[in-house]
Amino acid sequence: MAAKIVSVANMKGGVGKTTISVALAQALAAGPRPAKVLLIDLDAQANASFWLRGQAQLTAQIEQGKTIDSFLEDRIVFGKAASLADIIRPAKAHADRLFVAPSSPHLRIVERELIVYLSRRHRNLMEVERVVSDLLDQHLEPLRTAYDVIIFDTAPGISALTESALRLSHVVMVPTVPDYVSNLGLLSFCRTVSWSSNDIANAVKRAPWVIANKVKQTKHHQLMLQQMRTEADGVDREFNMFHTLIPSSPRIDEIASGLDMDGELGFDAKGAEIFASFAAEVMQIAEQATATATRAA
Ligand SMILES: Nc1ncnc2c1ncn2[C@@H]1O[C@H](COP(=O)(O)OP(=O)(O)OP(=O)(O)O)[C@@H](O)[C@H]1O
Ligand SMILES: [Mg+2]
Repeated sequence: MAAKIVSVANMKGGVGKTTISVALAQALAAGPRPAKVLLIDLDAQANASFWLRGQAQLTAQIEQGKTIDSFLEDRIVFGKAASLADIIRPAKAHADRLFVAPSSPHLRIVERELIVYLSRRHRNLMEVERVVSDLLDQHLEPLRTAYDVIIFDTAPGISALTESALRLSHVVMVPTVPDYVSNLGLLSFCRTVSWSSNDIANAVKRAPWVIANKVKQTKHHQLMLQQMRTEADGVDREFNMFHTLIPSSPRIDEIASGLDMDGELGFDAKGAEIFASFAAEVMQIAEQATATATRAA
C-alpha cells in the first residue's frame, strides 16, 4: 500500500503543530497495528527533529549536512545529486518504525536563497513552490512504498515549503486553540489550503481537518468549539473537525517544552489514550482520502 501523506499546518504559531506531529507519529508507530512512519521536518525551528532525534544526534547530523535544508540547497542551487532518502535517520524511540528527515536552523536561509535563486531565473513564487513540490514528489516516490504514513511538520506563517507539502498531502490537518483570536484566522487559512494545487484545471478541493488543541473546560473555549462544529457540519464547510479534542495539559506542555524528554514524548495513560484515538481517526480519514483520490484518477 502506498503511504498516506499528511501535513500539519497553521499560519498561527504555537498552536501545537509540532506537538501533534510528533505525538501522532509516535502513536502510529506504537499503535495496535504499528505503522512505519516518516516525519519530514519543514520548519527551521527544527523542534520535531530535536524531539525525535535527541539533541546530540541532531547536532551531529546537522554537522554532516544531512538535513532537509542541505538536500534542497544541494539539489536546486548547486545541482548536486543529493537524495531525500539519504538524510532519513531512525528516531530515538521506536527506532525500527519511526524515522525522521530532520531540519536545521539553516533552512530559514535556504528558503530565501531558493526564492532569490529561482526568481533570478524568472520564476515567480508559485513556480518556486512547484519546483520544491516536484522535487519532493520525485524523492517521495521510492519512499511511498517503504512507509505507511509520511507526516510533514510545517512552520508557522506563509512559506513556499509549506505550500509544497500541502500540495503533496492526502490530508491537511490544522491544529488550533478554540479561542477567539485563533478562530479569527482559522477560516481564511482553511480556505487557502482547501485546493490541492494552484493549477485550476487539475486542482481538487479537499477541506482540511481541524484538530482542537489546548482545550479547556471554560465557557469561552466551549462556545468557540460549538461555533467550529457548526461550521464543520455546514454544507459549504471550509473545514472538517476531528472528534478527538486534545486537552490543555500541564503534562503535555512539560513534555513538549523539552523538560522531560529526549527522544520520546512519554505521555501518561490518559495522554496516550487521547493520541491513540486521534491516530485511529487520522488513519480512517487518510484511507478515505486515498480511496477517493484513486477513484478520481
Ligand atoms: N495540549 C497542550 N497542552 C498544554 N500545552 C501544550 C499543548 N500542546 C502544545 N502545548 C505547548 O504549546 C507550545 C507550542 O507547542 P508547539 O511547539 O507544538 O506549537 P507549534 O504550532 O508547533 O509552534 P510553532 O508555530 O512555533 O511551530 C509548547 O510549549 C507546548 O509545550
Ligand atoms: Mg512547530
